Amino acid sequence: MALLLNSTHVILLLLATSIVATANENGERTKPNIIVFLMDDVGMGDIGCFGNTTINTPNIDQLAKEGAKLTQHIAHPICTPSRAALMTGRYAIRSGMTSFHIMRVISFISAPAGLPSNETTIAEVVKDVGYSTALIGKWHLGFMCEKEDDCSDPNSQGFDYFYGLPLTNILDCGHGTVFEAWRKNFYFEVTVTMVVLVLATFILVMYSIVGQRTLVAVVVASSSFYVFCLVMPQLIAMMNCVIVENHNVVEQPLSYTNLTQRHTQHALDFLEEHKEEPFLLVMSFLQAHTELYAEPHFLDRSQHGIYGAAVEELDWSVGEIMGALHRMGVADDTFVYLTSDNGAHVEEYTRSGEREGGSNGIYKGGKANCFEGGIRVPTIVRYPGVVPPESEVSEPTSIVDLLPTIAGLTGGEIPRDRIIDGKDIMPLLQGQEGGISPHEFMFQYCGGYIHGARYRPRKGNRIYKLLFTTPNLVEGPHGTMGCFDAYPCRCQGPTTTNHDPPLIYELRSDPSETTPLDPTTPNMQEIIRKAKAAVAEHQASIAPTPYQFAFMRLMPRFQDQPCCGTFPFCSCTEDHSTGFSYDDIKPGVPHKDWTS
Ligand SMILES: *[C@@H]1O[C@H](CO)[C@@H](O)[C@H](O)[C@H]1NC(C)=O
Ligand SMILES: *[C@@H]1O[C@H](CO)[C@@H](O)[C@H](O)[C@H]1NC(C)=O
Ligand SMILES: *[C@@H]1O[C@H](CO)[C@@H](O)[C@H](O)[C@H]1NC(C)=O
Repeated sequence: MALLLNSTHVILLLLATSIVATANENGERTKPNIIVFLMDDVGMGDIGCFGNTTINTPNIDQLAKEGAKLTQHIAHPICTPSRAALMTGRYAIRSGMTSFHIMRVISFISAPAGLPSNETTIAEVVKDVGYSTALIGKWHLGFMCEKEDDCSDPNSQGFDYFYGLPLTNILDCGHGTVFEAWRKNFYFEVTVTMVVLVLATFILVMYSIVGQRTLVAVVVASSSFYVFCLVMPQLIAMMNCVIVENHNVVEQPLSYTNLTQRHTQHALDFLEEHKEEPFLLVMSFLQAHTELYAEPHFLDRSQHGIYGAAVEELDWSVGEIMGALHRMGVADDTFVYLTSDNGAHVEEYTRSGEREGGSNGIYKGGKANCFEGGIRVPTIVRYPGVVPPESEVSEPTSIVDLLPTIAGLTGGEIPRDRIIDGKDIMPLLQGQEGGISPHEFMFQYCGGYIHGARYRPRKGNRIYKLLFTTPNLVEGPHGTMGCFDAYPCRCQGPTTTNHDPPLIYELRSDPSETTPLDPTTPNMQEIIRKAKAAVAEHQASIAPTPYQFAFMRLMPRFQDQPCCGTFPFCSCTEDHSTGFSYDDIKPGVPHKDWTS
């Protein structure tokens, strides 16, 4: 017996040494490069390899061919908290980055709200083990400092290099205005109201019911309000549509000309500079958030107007970066993770009824709510030699898993003085541990409120989703169901419904959440009891922390406004030319340097 044990030990030891030896021969295998492609508002139905037949995404599809498609990867339903969770490996509520009112994202660059500097980001985890780190694109996690060494900007959160938007791409940077996002015919309505008001006052003056002074006052007040409505969007665009390189404003207000190309160029420059050492590049696309934009090359070819062009341009950028990794000979020593911050924004239509939001495929709801369409995001992991090609992982995983997974791959340390909600999903991606999700429960947040829980029993194959609160979806243009009366979906109030007992769906058989299960059966009652206990335990684990969405923290501080010039006269542009050529692109074919 002892002999047997010993020989098993020897074999195990030999095996272990041979694994380490292979790793050493491969050199970088012990410290793979990390690339994170983070898309914005791209839904489960928008990508070729997830079933879209009319949007051309050959590069993203190639990632899936060479890696794993994660078909039940869960995010928060809206940008700021989702990005906070991805960066920290924790539910956003733990860092104070979820809201208990209607403003659920940071809306001004100069607002003090932001990711607290004592949170540990993926960039800090790998920087500590010798990685060079860059974030290109959208940040949206605050840009200001609480104190001198307590800042939220990317450079202060572990990124050596940052080029992009401290806030996010918004309609105001292009053709739209905040007011029109709120009410589609805002200017028309305001004009009509003003004219009616002035006329009414005029009539009252004629009948001597009020004096002429009142008329003057009404005219002055209305025209001032009107001027305010005209100037305010310009001011917001100037304040928020800003491109920075580290801390320097390089363009204000931003131009959409070659914007993805400029971002891509900065990414390639970073890769070229750091190809000899391990690096982390987070390519945080502005697309396909509204204001939609794309260069003519993509517009000319899109079958879905500007939305399709935006996604195809994003795919092109993925190809340029993957092509560069191949040219540099590091593609196979690189862990690539592609995901979206939340589902497609189904309520996005232009005033003329043209669809501007993406597709969530078979999934219900979308951005800003906790139906699957809002939180299930198209995700791919490519890591050749480790993650089997053309594999599919349908077990629940989450954007919070990125931090512990990266820590495991790079030898980085997971912070131990706080709760990390994510799990290292490498074993799952490699088909180990019985191929079961490391998460028994997951919680679905709408703002700071828990709207849902996902329960993956350790036995069997079922996945239950319980919904405690849902928004009331109403019909919009072309029969689309969404929060058309409460843009965006609210987390509380008259446009939502609370459910007790909760709605229960079994997601393997009912991924579209169409038919709730009978909550009165003993089996379902047991599931409800377990899920409620898990929610209570989770809520009890949330330590108090400064609330970033306190109203005053969301308001702009003009004295802190990043500005190239003297506020409010900030104006600068950068060179828009880039060296890319589209000549080598063949439809449906990934980047030419991408040989597998
Ligand atoms: C592909 O995406 C477009 C744009 O979101 C959408 O209109 C279309 O329905 C999608 N097609 C499929 C098959 O999902
Ligand atoms: C960060 O600091 C705040 C106090 O400012 C504290 O409440 C919070 O727990 C700290 N977070 C972490 C992760 O240590
Ligand atoms: C945009 O980039 C393309 C190629 O990448 C270049 O040919 C074009 O001149 C650029 N446009 C402007 C306005 O600089």
